[in-house]
Amino acid sequence: MEIRIAAHPVARHLVSQLRDKATPPARFRSLTNQLTVILALEATDDLPLERQSIETPLESFETEVLERGFVVVPILRAGLGMLPAIVELFPDVSVGYIGLARDHTTAVASSYYLKLPSVATKRTLVVDPMLATGGSACQAIDAVKAAGGTDIRLVCVVAAPEGVREVNRQHPDVTIIGAALDRELNDQRYILPGLGDFGDRLYGTL
Ligand code: PRP
Ligand code: URA
Repeated sequence: MEIRIAAHPVARHLVSQLRDKATPPARFRSLTNQLTVILALEATDDLPLERQSIETPLESFETEVLERGFVVVPILRAGLGMLPAIVELFPDVSVGYIGLARDHTTAVASSYYLKLPSVATKRTLVVDPMLATGGSACQAIDAVKAAGGTDIRLVCVVAAPEGVREVNRQHPDVTIIGAALDRELNDQRYILPGLGDFGDRLYGTL
C-alpha cells in the first residue's frame, strides 16, 4: 500500500484537532487551511524551478523562481476547504473543479460538475480531504487523465487503507499524499476513527 504521510509533528497535531467532534466549523476551516499548507508543500517538493534575473536593492542577481503551469483540482464540496491555502501559496496556479457526491446508501459517487483548465504536461494536484473507498478520487483522476493529464498527485487529509489500495490499483502512477492513514471503513463506508463528514463539518451542515 503506497501513501506518503506528512511526517511533521504540526500536521499530526492539526489532524488531532480536526478529529475532535467539539471543533466548530470556523475552527475546522482554519485548521484545514493550516494543514493544507503542509500537505501542499509535501506534494510539490519537486516542482521545477527556472532561472530569472532580478534586481535586488544592491545588485543584479540570477535567481530561481517556480515554473508556471501547475494545476489544482478540488473535488467538491469538501475539497474546496483545501483550495484557499493552495491558491495563497501558489498564486499562479490554475484551478479546475470536479463535483462528485456519494450516494448515502451505496457510497458510490456520481458526477454533477466538471470544469478543467488545460492539464496536459502540467503537474496536477487533485485535492479531497477524505479518501474512503477511493471511488471519488479514482473518478476525479479518470477525468484529469481523460483531459490529457499525466503528472497527477492526490492530496488528502485522512485516508482509509481501502481507498489507498483502490487508487494504487486503478492509478499506480499517482502518488498519494496525506496527513493520516486510518484503520478501516465502517458499514456506511465512513473512515474509522476518521473525523466524520468533512464537508458537513467544514460548512456547518450536520
Ligand atoms: C466525501 C469526501 C470525498 C468522498 C470520499 O464527499 O469529501 O469526496 O466522500 O469517499 P469515497 O472515497 O468513498 O468516494 P461527499 O460525497 O460526502 O460529498 P461532499 O464533499 O459534498 O460532502
Ligand atoms: N467522506 C467523509 O467526509 N468522511 C468519511 O469518513 C468518508 C467519506
